[in-house]
Amino acid sequence: MALHKPYLDVPGTTIFDADQSRKGYWLNQFCMSLMKAENRERFKQDEDAYLAEWDMTDEQRAAVRARDLNWMMRTGGNIYFLSKLGATDGMSFQQMAGSMTGMTEQQYRDMMVGGGRSPEGNRVVGQGGDAQGAVSQSAAWKAWEEKQQKNLVAGVEKHDTATKSGANGQARVTASLFASHVPAIGAAVDLGKTDEPYWVPLFKGFEFSKQWMKDNLPDVIFLVYNDHATNFDLGIIPTFAIGTAAEFEPADEGYGPRPVPKVVGHPHLAAHIAQSVIQQDFDLTIVNNLKVDHGLTVPLNLMFGSPAEWPCKVIPFHVNVVQYPVPSGARCFALGQAIRRAIESYDEPLKVQIWGTGGMSHQLQGPRAGLINSEWDNQFLDRLIADPKDLATMPHIDYVREAGSEGIELVMWLIARGAMADVAGGKAPKVAHRFFHVPASNTAVGHLILENQE
Ligand code: DHB
Ligand code: FE
Repeated sequence: MALHKPYLDVPGTTIFDADQSRKGYWLNQFCMSLMKAENRERFKQDEDAYLAEWDMTDEQRAAVRARDLNWMMRTGGNIYFLSKLGATDGMSFQQMAGSMTGMTEQQYRDMMVGGGRSPEGNRVVGQGGDAQGAVSQSAAWKAWEEKQQKNLVAGVEKHDTATKSGANGQARVTASLFASHVPAIGAAVDLGKTDEPYWVPLFKGFEFSKQWMKDNLPDVIFLVYNDHATNFDLGIIPTFAIGTAAEFEPADEGYGPRPVPKVVGHPHLAAHIAQSVIQQDFDLTIVNNLKVDHGLTVPLNLMFGSPAEWPCKVIPFHVNVVQYPVPSGARCFALGQAIRRAIESYDEPLKVQIWGTGGMSHQLQGPRAGLINSEWDNQFLDRLIADPKDLATMPHIDYVREAGSEGIELVMWLIARGAMADVAGGKAPKVAHRFFHVPASNTAVGHLILENQE
């Protein structure tokens, strides 16, 4: 099922949505670079050389060279970004806007002085207004399209079969998985200490899980975690952020980057989820430039060991649990339901797992540091399995009092649990595995695998 895009039939108009943004990422980033005087200078001196530094398509480079704003927009450009290029050429916004209309500069100026273009006949394609004509094209764009004509015919056919709605089935959530993400576990893996007596019982608890992952490998993991003051310092604090990039490098958290493989994303599915979830009234921050910290990489080690490459794609999803107010359990649970609807409306038969990470009880600060509440943690696991809706009503203060200040990470587990089929009226999940162990560093480690039943 395609996303709801009611704006596609507004004449002479391109709405800059998640799909356009994905397409135009490097074109827009190139434009942003022109905000520095030294870059403008280098660009002016040798356009081809400067453009070659950016990972744009050949078509985007040609559109820039032609200074054809309609063409640039077609390839994912957004006017506020493109305006940096216009500014570099000494153009005003009025000149830029006018250049896209097929009018001369004087005609456009006169139209604006006369009160501007009327919306009459210009609200919907086919109404016959004065913005209904063909997009004005530079000679360079026309020549480009003629040259592409042969490939274009083949390309359209290919595109048609690939996007036929649900022709090959929809994506689905196959399982949810829950695990703590203690940095010391990562260090034990990196330093080859997993056989030490301290660590043996912990890693033993994940032996079943590693085999289960081999038998149930998804195409994509939607991995809910919190960024621990790694990308998001106090300059920007997004409550929910989705990683839409193609790749995510491991972050340097102060000890040097972990020697783990880079994480490969799924930009197309991530953009789809972002748009769908935002349309369901959840405000997500879209992040194209993200390094992943222990919150994301440690659970990957627990489930996959230390492979040369992670065996599937991962969409990172960050939740603020560092600075209050953090999102409520109820909101996280509802968000999980929205994410499930988003995934299951994606027109490709992908198997998607959703992971909730962090927790369980731990407190990393103050004289109460070291707090562990195994009884409460195990009740949390019981309730997460059997009655997550009720568990989601638990206020933050209960997490803090009972599970320690950093135990609040557990609200993230409710996102993964909310995405399971039973919450939307389907069958109860099968508990494939449950494990609990104290301690790993300062933390009680909890772990669950829940499988959706067909
Ligand atoms: C520890 C646990 C965490 O979840 C974390 O983010 C950092 C440290 C710990 O137990 O040391
Ligand atoms: Fe943490």
